[in-house]
Amino acid sequence: MKTSWPTLAQEVFSCERCRLCQTRNHVVFGEGNLHAPLMLIGEGPGQQEDSTGRPFVGAAGQLLDKMLAAIGLAREQVYICNVVKCRPPHNRVPEPDEQAACMDYLRQQVALVRPRVIVCLGSTPTRALLGGQMRITRDRGVWQLKKGVWFMPTYHPAALLRDADKKRPAWTDFKAIRDKLNELGVYRQISGAEGPAGEEADGR
Ligand code: URA
Repeated sequence: MKTSWPTLAQEVFSCERCRLCQTRNHVVFGEGNLHAPLMLIGEGPGQQEDSTGRPFVGAAGQLLDKMLAAIGLAREQVYICNVVKCRPPHNRVPEPDEQAACMDYLRQQVALVRPRVIVCLGSTPTRALLGGQMRITRDRGVWQLKKGVWFMPTYHPAALLRDADKKRPAWTDFKAIRDKLNELGVYRQISGAEGPAGEEADGR
């Protein structure tokens, strides 16, 4: 049976399914528009997310906000969460068993939001949702339709901060995301955009 947001949140906030519960300060559940056509999924909370309980609030999050703004969207208009809800120590990649323990929560979040488009930020969400055969450098920017939802794997914003050469392809992906939302007829619904949603949001 489909859960509800309060039931799911209660379950996640008291979760002890894996070892990450022992070192967390805050569970980072996810936030945003609970009916957003666009959902963005990261890897797991970093230090600032663990201190605040909010996803993508550190340097990578600030860049993500800017990238969303560049396609005419604010973070409140989309739904943002992570594969794992508790910070892995020293920001290591979450172990397969940690991801597996948390996967059901992510599935339930997707079922509740019912997004039309899911953006996988980096390798971890891309592999978790699209399969272990995925390679972010090879497969980013390529749409995949799964059970009626469009998936776009793209670079994690933290990767863009480490390697400026990734910024241009990531920008290409974000424009494709805006175009897909337009094509699906949901861009105006989220952005409240007046007039044609298009090149004016390209400003570089
Ligand atoms: N990196 C992530 O993958 N998620 C966050 O919430 C913050 C940084």
